[in-house]
Amino acid sequence: MAENAKAEYYLEPYRSQFHFTPKKMWMNDPNGMVYSDDNYHLFYQYYPEDIVWGPMHWGHATSKDLIHWEHRPIALYPDKLGYIFSGSAVLDKENTSGFGTEDNPPLVAIFTYHDAEMKKSGKNNFETQGIAYSLDNADTWTKYEGNPVISDENSTDFRDPKVMWHEPSQKWILTLVASDHAQFYSSENLKEWKLLSEFGKNRGAHGGVWECPDLFKLKVEGTDEEKWILLISINPGGPNGGSGTQYFIGDFNGNTFTADQNDIRWVDWGTDNYAGVTYSNVPNDEKIFIGWMSNWQYANKTPTEKWRSAMTLPRKLSIKKIGETYELINYPIKNLETIINGQPQKKIKLVEGARESIDFDHFNQSEVRFATAVKNFVLRFKNEKNEELVLTLDGEKDLFLLDRTQSGQTDFQKDFASVAKMPVDNLPEGEYEVRILMDRSSVEVFINQGQYVMTAQLFPNKDYRTLEIENTSGHLLKFNDFEVNRVGRIW
Ligand code: FRU
Repeated sequence: MAENAKAEYYLEPYRSQFHFTPKKMWMNDPNGMVYSDDNYHLFYQYYPEDIVWGPMHWGHATSKDLIHWEHRPIALYPDKLGYIFSGSAVLDKENTSGFGTEDNPPLVAIFTYHDAEMKKSGKNNFETQGIAYSLDNADTWTKYEGNPVISDENSTDFRDPKVMWHEPSQKWILTLVASDHAQFYSSENLKEWKLLSEFGKNRGAHGGVWECPDLFKLKVEGTDEEKWILLISINPGGPNGGSGTQYFIGDFNGNTFTADQNDIRWVDWGTDNYAGVTYSNVPNDEKIFIGWMSNWQYANKTPTEKWRSAMTLPRKLSIKKIGETYELINYPIKNLETIINGQPQKKIKLVEGARESIDFDHFNQSEVRFATAVKNFVLRFKNEKNEELVLTLDGEKDLFLLDRTQSGQTDFQKDFASVAKMPVDNLPEGEYEVRILMDRSSVEVFINQGQYVMTAQLFPNKDYRTLEIENTSGHLLKFNDFEVNRVGRIW
């Protein structure tokens, strides 16, 4: 922590104040998320020599609360088998791999090797899966001499292994993606893997390559019913262009995954939540999700200078049955509240068509939160340069819109100045919560406690200092428990 306390560089323009960012240089996907020995480990796709994507390493950070982070040395470097692409990590409690002892069980990382030379030469099989272990709680890593542990002669995009322990069959289950579908493998020792089945060639969204899968079980809230969730990131073909993450709800019997639904579902409808997966080995078996807050459309071009991109807030996943539909909910973990300074609550009542303005110096590092039953309003965050972020709920069309076309710098890439749309057609009757978290160059909007979520980057030239609320409902608009709060910095 001592080093971070002097972290002047965290005051750079657009630098996230309460989201994880690397100290410097390029970052993409979260990797190897595992809880072990009182630490949440976060590894990430990292290129230490530039602020654009390059030969991938695994960067590393740790946290006690998932809010405050400590940077650690790079964990995995490329080697003769290739760059180190995305993957996961598990605590091998029973030492099934034999890499440790029962008294000192190993952490095992499972990742993709990407052989860039081989790819260039036009050959297949340039992506294979490798493993590495640590016996000192992730400080140092040894790569397994038997690598790669999974390869497939015919494959091209074959990557992003996510491993979990499957209690009923007493086996490790690994999910990876192969271009347009997921594959499931099992193992007793994390070294030898057997292909079980595949899923998805004709299911879900297929506008691009499938990436970064995750398979896990959750209880439906308030019941004993269990469902399996399969997360699949896809690029391009996301709900608002470029990268996005879809999910399937269904069942996994230790061998095959079957989906209950036929429609396409998105974890987050915003443009900037990609490659997200969940932590393994979390106390109480909670599923905590972190995504990469960017989009391959413009990730290499965003206007920051010393580093590139941030992670989303850690979010707790749950399943709720709303109306007739099982919905995957994602909502910031409770610990976030420890850095939020509450202000007196405010009740806002607006007559038809009226506008009200709220001034606050710190909207760019804030939480705005209220409850309402009305489904038609517009929120405009504005600065003195006439830039604005516009959030619209349109109850007639059952749509929520996030318009960043005039939000600040947008011309670094043609797709950035977008209006992202999200259907909100299963919002329950009555009061629901709207919660907006803005942090320098990002905004995360949670409607009805994470039923509908949008995450987006933005690059205003000045801080937003005014929030204008417009009533478009045609009747009295009431916001209850309206709060505007400053969020503390974590560095
Ligand atoms: C997703 C992804 C992964 C891959 C990694 C490479 O953003 O393309 O599929 O492992 O990034 O950095």
